[in-house]
Amino acid sequence: PETNDPTVERTLVLVKPDGVRRGLSGEVLRRVEAKGYTLVAVELLDATPGLLAEHYAEHVGKEFYQPLVDFMMSGPILAVAIEGQRVVEGFRSLAGATDGTLASPGTIRGDFARSWGSKVMQNIVHGSDSPESAAREIALWFPKL
Ligand code: TYD
Ligand code: MG
Repeated sequence: PETNDPTVERTLVLVKPDGVRRGLSGEVLRRVEAKGYTLVAVELLDATPGLLAEHYAEHVGKEFYQPLVDFMMSGPILAVAIEGQRVVEGFRSLAGATDGTLASPGTIRGDFARSWGSKVMQNIVHGSDSPESAAREIALWFPKL
């Protein structure tokens, strides 16, 4: 971030293929902007196996990894870098719990994702889980930033 305030962070948001397919890209950006976060970079792109292996490095080898990769390659993804005070935690709060069935109403996943079990990955958005993950993920998806 272009500031000395250590509470101003950046995070990576992905509108996953289900979110793009369902026409929810604008809704996600609207909620991000309404909260007061700033858009830093936006790009619609198709993920590759290599990019996803780095992005989801913590999940490589788990039983849901290959279905997750297949899903993430099922259509275009809207990658968005955003900035704001405590935005890493703040966007995770906007996104809601991983399981869309359990995510609170009022959150993106709670309002739009019903998926569970083997379809739990169809939960509209990704958000980085720590400032360190955010820096790593933004460098992957936006190498020119
Ligand atoms: P995770 O990083 O645990 O969740 P989050 O997206 O909330 O940070 O998992 C990454 C994605 O992998 C998650 O959005 C959905 C999918 N996933 C599964 O398909 N099965 C699982 O058992 C878990 C834990 C995650
Ligand atoms: Mg995660």
